[in-house]
Order: sequence, then structure tokens, then C-alpha cells
Amino acid sequence: MIVRPDYLEIRGLTVTFDGFVAVDHVDLTVFQQDLRFLIGPNGAGKTTIIDALTGLVPATGYARYGATDLLGRKPHQIARLGIGRTFQTASVFTELTVLQNLDIAAGAGRSPLSLLRARRGVPPQVAEALETIGLSRASGQLAGSLSHGQKQWLEIGMLLVQNAKVMLLDEPVAGMSADEREQTGALLKSIATDRTVIIVEHDMDFLRAWADSVTVLHGGKVLSEGSVADVQADPKVQEVYLGSGHTAQVPAQAAEPVAHDAGPSTGEQHVLVTEGIR
Ligand SMILES: Nc1ncnc2c1ncn2[C@@H]1O[C@H](COP(=O)(O)OP(=O)(O)OP(=O)(O)O)[C@@H](O)[C@H]1O
Ligand SMILES: [Mg+2]
Repeated sequence: MIVRPDYLEIRGLTVTFDGFVAVDHVDLTVFQQDLRFLIGPNGAGKTTIIDALTGLVPATGYARYGATDLLGRKPHQIARLGIGRTFQTASVFTELTVLQNLDIAAGAGRSPLSLLRARRGVPPQVAEALETIGLSRASGQLAGSLSHGQKQWLEIGMLLVQNAKVMLLDEPVAGMSADEREQTGALLKSIATDRTVIIVEHDMDFLRAWADSVTVLHGGKVLSEGSVADVQADPKVQEVYLGSGHTAQVPAQAAEPVAHDAGPSTGEQHVLVTEGIR
């Protein structure tokens, strides 16, 4: 019997803000197990795609996971369909412990009655998530006291306990130490074995180390797609990141000035350069 892997299929996804087309007829198909990186200069529309898929902004086109179109649904309905996301700025409950954060996330799908029932010990799926994100020993610690990297892992853990099958992660390694990046890469790789994962990132070293495939976005449109080597070799990509005819490494912002304030884009603006291909 052939088992078809799960996948997210996006067709003609379009988001318009007061006449400005931020996401312009984007087609994207991402299979389970394929760690997909979504890159592009500031303002390319990366976060807006995630916002559209999670019901935070209205969009046209369609975005199917399984038999269900995600568009036109409320954020909590989409979360219940198994679509989870993180934000560019980690959004954990800083005054609660790691365990309490996970417990609340795990409770999101439970009935009010089961939430009232007395809890004995740590629920298995919470213990498993703690182990996966490497925070078992920090479970009693306040989330606010975690390092930036650990907060991102906790957010990922909160998606795990919600049984998210699709994970949309917005710049997860921005501001992380080299060690934390390495651990995050391994964590994401293992999570992607039975989930569909899209990672928005600016960090090109991280991308080269962990991406299975890459989609490059520019001006709301898909500019290029393929393996890391494919997109790095694509002249269109080189032009966007470097400007035609240049060979030197330049900041991505230089090619595309930031024209908005969509929260702190703390990602290092590494660029995709030909000499960087490994
Ligand atoms: N709520 C909004 N209202 C109006 N314009 C918006 C809104 N959200 C995003 N935009 C615009 O849509 C475009 C895409 O923004 P988006 O935040 O998706 O870019 P991004 O690729 O995530 O950039 P970054 O790398 O800086 O995070 C930008 O021009 C931005 O100004
Ligand atoms: Mg963004």
C-alpha cells in the first residue's frame, strides 16, 4: 500500500492591505518531512503568508491541509485543525512556569470539564514535549527567566502538545547563540519527520545547515524554489540579494529597504551569495 505523506497545498494565495498587494498569487506545496525554508528580503510577505494561513489576515486563493481549506476560518478553528505557528517575538506566558505554559497549551484542545478535573502528575504528552524541546530540567522555572532560545523551544513545545501537524515558524533562531541554533536545527529536523514544517529565516548559515528545500519570496511573489544549491545558483535570486553584477556580500536590506514596522525583525540579514555555496 502506498502511504501518501501529508502536505500543505497553497494556490493563488493573495493578501491585500488597502490596495497594496503584500502576497501576490503564491503557490506553495510543502510535504511532511521536507524541512522547507521560506526566505526573502524584509517586506517580501513571509510573515503575511503565515498570518493568512492562521486566520489573522483575510486572504483569497486556497490553502489546503488534508481535505480542508484553511482560508476563511477563525484562528482558533485553524489551530484545532492542527496548524500551529510561532511569532517573530516569542509569546510565552512569562509569569508562569515552563510546565504551566505547556499545560495550558495542552488544555487548549480539552473540554472545560477535563480541565477542571484534578491532575495527577505531568500528562504524558507534556512530559514528552519537555523532553523533545530539552527543557525537562527547567520545567519548574518561570518562562520569563528562560534564555531567548529556550523561549522559542517552549513555544515549539506548546505546538507539540497541541498536536500541531503543520508548524509555521517565524524566524525561530533570530537572536540565538551558535549552540542554541545547532540544537534548534536538530529539534526542527526531528519534528519534521512526521510534520509539515515551514521556517521563515534570514540566517543563511542556518538555512544551509538544515534546509531540505527553499522557497524565495520577493515583492509578495515566489521568485525561486528548489534545493539550497538550486536557489543559490538562480540568477534571479542573486539579483534580488546582491543587485545585478555584484559579487560582494551586501546586507539584504540594501536590496529592499524596510518600509514597515512589523515588529522586531531580529534576524541577521545574511545574504545568499554564490561564494557561500557549500
Ligand atoms: N497589517 C498590515 N497592514 C498594512 N500593510 C502590512 C500589514 N502587514 C504587513 N504589511 C505590509 O506587507 C508587506 C509584507 O510584510 P511582511 O511582514 O509579511 O514581510 P516579511 O517578509 O515578513 O518581512 P521581515 O523579513 O521584515 O519580517 C510589507 O510591505 C508590509 O509593510
Ligand atoms: Mg516577517
